[in-house]
Amino acid sequence: MAQNWQFHNPVFESNPFNPWWMSASPWSTNRRFAYDLTRFIKPKVVAELGVHCGCSLFTFAQAAKDGMFDSRIYGIDTWQGDEQAGHYDENVLRGVELIRRSVFTDQHISLLQKTFSEALGDFKDNTIDLLHIDGLHTYEAVSEDFATWLPKLKPNGIILFHDVTANAAENGYGSVRFWNEITEQYPNLQLTHNWGLGILFPKGDDLLRSMNKNGVPHFLRAYETISMIELTQWLAAREAISHRNRATEPAENTPDKPLPSTNEHKPRREPAGKNHQRTVAAATRLKSRLGRLKQKLTKTSS
Ligand SMILES: C[S@@+](CC[C@H](N)C(=O)[O-])C[C@H]1O[C@@H](n2cnc3c(N)ncnc32)[C@H](O)[C@@H]1O
Repeated sequence: MAQNWQFHNPVFESNPFNPWWMSASPWSTNRRFAYDLTRFIKPKVVAELGVHCGCSLFTFAQAAKDGMFDSRIYGIDTWQGDEQAGHYDENVLRGVELIRRSVFTDQHISLLQKTFSEALGDFKDNTIDLLHIDGLHTYEAVSEDFATWLPKLKPNGIILFHDVTANAAENGYGSVRFWNEITEQYPNLQLTHNWGLGILFPKGDDLLRSMNKNGVPHFLRAYETISMIELTQWLAAREAISHRNRATEPAENTPDKPLPSTNEHKPRREPAGKNHQRTVAAATRLKSRLGRLKQKLTKTSS
């Protein structure tokens, strides 16, 4: 069946639950492309190695929800963190579960709290349409994730790799070297902005040919530009709000460190701990406000 690539303007329903992480964490600038890709391929099975707060996981889930196709989405993580993402507490997983319960009740999302190697036994060979590798980014870890999970990928399946650009290399991420090597063996595409996203076709290039027919490689620079403009706007709006708060509120509400400029954008750790608890609490309040509003509306219309 012929597939048509479409440009969507998605509303990411996970945003209000964790605004900073969803809009400005390192994965945020891949969301537009990954959403359109997921709508394009309509994967039956998605597996993600490395979920953390769920920016990428809920991008796949949003596409499945909006496109009304049935995807089984598996998010695998110890939810303990690692030396690059930082170590964090159980509130991170609670936040992810809250979003799943609140927004994606009809989607099949399984959160597997285990190591990637422990989770291998949960998947049969040749069953995953879309695999996202985003765990620890040392050369050794990424090589192992790729080697052990490749058999699980379906023929013509796609693997996404996060952190494949010079920006990641400057931060000592071995994932860049791995990506440079693997792309000599298999067909691929790449988003080169921010931390970068590699798109690999290691078991057949049917989907790549279909994307080529739709002109997708020519649009990649547009995805990068739009996403960086959105990030810049988001950071500018946030800076304006905290500037206003600094001017009008008591001293304890001022941020303890300057906001990142878009050039030195390396906001890896911010949502852990207290900030995250505040986000979850705010999301819970928002949810109950929405519940009350819904009740009111039901009463009015009956
Ligand atoms: C870079 S973060 C994932 C970011 C996420 N994809 C996003 O959209 O923001 C990496 C995550 O991988 C997890 N992780 C790293 N190595 C792991 C392993 N071997 N098994 C399970 N989880 C692991 C960490 O706990 C961390 O939450």
